[in-house]
Amino acid sequence: MSAGLTPTDRLIVALDAPDGDAARALIAELRGTLTWFKVGMTLYYGAGRAIVDELVASGERVFLDLKCHDIPHQVEGAVRGLAQLGVALVTVHTGGGPAMLEAAARAVEGTSTRVLGVTVLTSLDADALAAVGIVRDPGELVLERARLAAVCGLHGVVASPQEARALRAALPAGFEIVTPGIRPASAPADDQRRTATPAQAIRAGATRLVVGRPITTACEPAMAARALLREIEAAR
Ligand code: C5P
Repeated sequence: MSAGLTPTDRLIVALDAPDGDAARALIAELRGTLTWFKVGMTLYYGAGRAIVDELVASGERVFLDLKCHDIPHQVEGAVRGLAQLGVALVTVHTGGGPAMLEAAARAVEGTSTRVLGVTVLTSLDADALAAVGIVRDPGELVLERARLAAVCGLHGVVASPQEARALRAALPAGFEIVTPGIRPASAPADDQRRTATPAQAIRAGATRLVVGRPITTACEPAMAARALLREIEAAR
């Protein structure tokens, strides 16, 4: 395990709820068990920033996953605005290039917000990349873009658990590797194709794990979250 990180530091629940009220119900269930909540585009654009404000005001840590991608000036302004919300993590697309990544890193200087780079969307395979003019092995592209993210001053990347080991070996110590696609050994994969258990992801070098449906659709979300925390604890 990375030094100093507890199981609750490592587990981020993805609040992929259809609306603000559903998200609030989940937050109420999980508060006290989990301390990290991921808000994605659907919830943020649908329910507005009120959810983020409420989470931050009650002391929770927020991963605001809006995947910014624009010219450097726009991204700098966007990330600066997100940092002012008091969120702990934000995301940008590494495909935006070095100047955009440096702008994002600059935008959080002097704040406690950290910026993660999305390397290659896991929904893109080699054929899909070729269709947009990128003829590269997706795994190589992930590594190249993660190195670029580190050089440009980002604090980590979002990656599939299958990529975590190669990334850990290629990236500076302390660089965050945040992995979705996590399933407890007993859970269905849903629409995720390449999953890993919490222990597999942590042993591969992931610093934090994003888990959605195994918690949010469980009959008792807090109990499911506690079981995941135990799996993470056992992976030490
Ligand atoms: O429900 P599940 O555990 O699959 O949710 C995973 C979360 O991580 C979702 O919010 C999803 O959008 C996000 N994610 C992902 N794969 C990526 C990037 C983000 O599943 N490559």
